[in-house]
Amino acid sequence: MRHIYLILLCATLCALDAFPQAEKIVKRDYAKLANYDESKVPAYTLPDPLLCKDGTRVTTVREWEQKRRPELLEMFTTYMFGHVPQTSDKLDYEVREVKTDALHGRAIRKQVIIYLTSERTNGPHIDLQLYLPADAKGKTPVFLGISFLPNWTIYDDPDLNVPDSITRPDGHRVQAPARGSMDKSWQLDKILAHGYGLATFCYNDITPDYDDGFARGVIPYFYRPGQTYPDPDQWGAIAAWAWGASRALDYLETDAQIDARRVAIIGHSRLGKAAVWAGASDPRFALVISGNSGCCGVALSRRCYGETVEAMNVRFPHWFCGNYKQFNAREPYMPFDQHELVALIAPRPLYIASASEDNWSDQRGEFLGGKGAEPVYALYGLTGISTNEMPPVDQPSMDGTIAYHNRRGPHAILPYDWEMFLRFADRYFK
Ligand code: GCU
Repeated sequence: MRHIYLILLCATLCALDAFPQAEKIVKRDYAKLANYDESKVPAYTLPDPLLCKDGTRVTTVREWEQKRRPELLEMFTTYMFGHVPQTSDKLDYEVREVKTDALHGRAIRKQVIIYLTSERTNGPHIDLQLYLPADAKGKTPVFLGISFLPNWTIYDDPDLNVPDSITRPDGHRVQAPARGSMDKSWQLDKILAHGYGLATFCYNDITPDYDDGFARGVIPYFYRPGQTYPDPDQWGAIAAWAWGASRALDYLETDAQIDARRVAIIGHSRLGKAAVWAGASDPRFALVISGNSGCCGVALSRRCYGETVEAMNVRFPHWFCGNYKQFNAREPYMPFDQHELVALIAPRPLYIASASEDNWSDQRGEFLGGKGAEPVYALYGLTGISTNEMPPVDQPSMDGTIAYHNRRGPHAILPYDWEMFLRFADRYFK
C-alpha cells in the first residue's frame, strides 16, 4: 500500500514539474547538443524546387511563376511564417522632418512615421529614418535595414534628437541607448559615398521579440472579434517584422527622391531571416541581403548542423507560426527546405553572408541553401553561386546572381561585409 502512495506521489510531482530533472529535459541546452561534425550530418534528399505537388515538373519561367512559385510561397506561409493581413487601404504616414544639411551638409535626413493601424494616437507605428546623399541626383537607390535598436543608434549624428529614456515593448522604461552605439552594423558613410540611401526602423516598432502570447505590438490589432491568439497558420514575429519592411517600402514608393525599384532589404541574424522572408514574399525588393540568417533563414534544415528547427521553436516560440512546431526534430518530413525559400527570390540578386566563427548558423548549410536554388535561377538563364565548391574564408564569390562569402570572424555585420554588399549592389543598381 505504501508503495502505491509513493508511486502516486511521484506521478503527481512529475506532473507538477516539481523535479529539477524534468525542468532540465524541457530546457535543453541546444547549443551544447548541436552537431558541429560534418561527418555526422544525416543523409538527406532535398525536395526538388521545380517539382509541383501534382507530380509535374516545371520547365519554363511561366510555369514557375504561375504554378510552382505560388504553390511554394503558400507552403512557406502556411507552415512556417504564417499569413499576414492584407493591407489594401491607403498608407497612412507623416513626414516629421526633412533636414537638407544633416551630417554637416553631407546628407539629407528624413524622419517618417508610418501608422500601421487606423489608431494614430496610441497605435503601433514605424519610425523610419532615412539618409540620402546630399548630392544625389534623380531618384536614389536605398538599403532598407531592419534594426535591433532605435534609429539614432546607427550613427553619431550630432543634431539628431535622442530621448533620455525609451519604453521597451514590455512597458518598462529604460535608459535610451547612446547615439551611434551600433555604428559598425550600419556603415552609413560607406553607403552614402556609393550614392545610396539608408532607411532603417527598429523591429520592436512592429512586434516585441519575446514570447508575450502575442498580446502586444501590431498582431492583436488584427485579431477577429474574440480572437486572442494567432491561428496556427497566422503570422509569428518574423513574418510581422518582414511585413513591417513591406510597409516601409510602401512609404519609399511615395517618396519622389527614392527609386523604389532599387531597394535592397537587409537584416542580420533573426532579422536576416526576416529580410529573406521579406524578399521572398514581396517581389518589390530588388535585392536581398542575408546577414548570418542561419537556421530557418537560408541554411538547409535537413543538415541538422548547428541550430535546429526544434532548438529554434523551443527557444523562440514566437518567431514562427504554430504550424511550424510540428517539424521539431522531423526535418525529413518538411514539405520544403530553405533552398526553396531562396528560390522564391529568383531571379533577383541575393547576397548570402556567413561568418567563419558562426557555426551555429551553419555556414556550409547557408552556401548549400543558395546552391539548391540554382535550378530556378537557371530557368531565367542566370547562374546562382558562380562556384560549386564553398569558397575559402574571406574569398567572396560574386560573379553569379547569388553572391556568397564566409567572412573571418564572429556572427555580425562588419565593415568588410558592407564593402562586399556595396560592390555587389553596384552591379545591379548603378
Ligand atoms: C540566436 C538564435 C539564432 C538567431 C540569433 C540572433 O542565436 O538561435 O537563430 O539568428 O539568435 O538573432 O542573433
